[in-house]
Amino acid sequence: MVDSVGLRSRLFATRDVRSLVAETEVEGQTLKRAVGPVQLTALGVGAIIGTGIFVVIGEGAALAGPGVIFSFMLAALACMFSALSYAELSSSMPVSGSAYTYSYATLGELVAWIIGWDLILEYGVSVAAIAVGWGGNLNAFLDTAFGVALPDAISQSPPDGVFNLPAVFIVLAITALLAFGVRESARANLVMVVVKLVVLIFFIIVACTAINSGNFTPLLPHGGDGAVSAAAIIFFAFIGFDAVTCGSEEARNPARDLPIAIIGSLVICTVFYVLVSAGAIGIAGSDVLSGSDAPLAAALSEGAGITWAAAILAFGALVAITSVVLVILYGQTRIFFSMCRDGLLPRRLATLHPRFGTPVLLTAGLGLLISVLAALVPLGEIVRLTNIGTLFAFVLVNIGVLVLRRTRPDMPRPYRVPLSPVLPLLGIGFAIYLMADLPGSTWLRFVLWLLAGLVIYALYGYRHSRLRTGNGEVNRPA
Ligand code: ALA
Repeated sequence: MVDSVGLRSRLFATRDVRSLVAETEVEGQTLKRAVGPVQLTALGVGAIIGTGIFVVIGEGAALAGPGVIFSFMLAALACMFSALSYAELSSSMPVSGSAYTYSYATLGELVAWIIGWDLILEYGVSVAAIAVGWGGNLNAFLDTAFGVALPDAISQSPPDGVFNLPAVFIVLAITALLAFGVRESARANLVMVVVKLVVLIFFIIVACTAINSGNFTPLLPHGGDGAVSAAAIIFFAFIGFDAVTCGSEEARNPARDLPIAIIGSLVICTVFYVLVSAGAIGIAGSDVLSGSDAPLAAALSEGAGITWAAAILAFGALVAITSVVLVILYGQTRIFFSMCRDGLLPRRLATLHPRFGTPVLLTAGLGLLISVLAALVPLGEIVRLTNIGTLFAFVLVNIGVLVLRRTRPDMPRPYRVPLSPVLPLLGIGFAIYLMADLPGSTWLRFVLWLLAGLVIYALYGYRHSRLRTGNGEVNRPA
């Protein structure tokens, strides 16, 4: 029997930061340090620009009207504070696992497990939804470029179809790419990032030639509240900059390159989003955007009458979303990798393939599970569920910065959040502000998801954790 003090001490025991870093050097569990700052920033951009700007912007326009431009700015601001905290933690703890690992070092095992479980919403589950978006854009591309489209039965999830074949295809293809090795994947990602930026620049230039200033009035048809509600949805478009931290163990110079990549990718994407959303509203108005499954293409064809550009846009969306699937799935495998290494999930799964140097078993298993979800689940509520999960992770990451500044004031911090505790507190405040704007049904699903995670922890992780089996350095709380 464990008394309540003993239980508390177990649940809130933290991993030692030095041992976290040291074990990344363990024979057979060491990822290749092959990725530089440009590739890391591309990893961020690769994860960020995708379904959000190409698809979810339509829902934002429905809620905010032309004010969706402000929604992008608000969501970017909310992300920026948390990005600084991610930069500090990832530069001082350059290990796989993102918010999960930082929580383990700062807030204890129970919180770390909750976050790891929560990140499945941001990474694994969202990959399924993003892949569905990919399938939709494939059809739009086939239709606009060649006048053919896949039948609903094999291109839609229930109830509109039976099975989403394109979504399954993209998940499995990216799974195979990741299993072969990170260097090759990072190179493929770089190419896709260049293509999607070129397509968005193309959109901005074409939009500049056909802007109608009347489309901007009324600027806020649903008031400021509409813009805030849209920001809580549009936030999805920014998710991904934190995926850079999942590449920590593969970064050549993590202390310098991770902050550059996190903040740099967020700034680049914010500039693109504001220009693209202003251009889209300018040429088409919010009604055209909100009424389409491919809003940017619709803005060009319906708003500006430039139909040939719709095929280019659909192709751009296809490439953009491919790189999002690549990076987010990569992030999910690395978070699971850390959880396996800590014994909260079966440790066997974290074994690296002798030739490829990647966790092949884990990658394949996750890819298969996600492809089943992608075959059957529509985008809708998943975006909101992903958002609430991600915002919750942001709250804990900001708290992690504050806690670690107190408990480990002397720890080397190659990058420090300026004006702490003010900026981390603003990060927490903004995240909670956006979470509060999500509907009750999303909150309910989120709470049920976390409860399911607690049950799994009680049945497996609590017993097999490395901290419990005496296989890791432990800091017990006082
Ligand atoms: N930010 C990513 C996207 O928009 C998740 O697809």
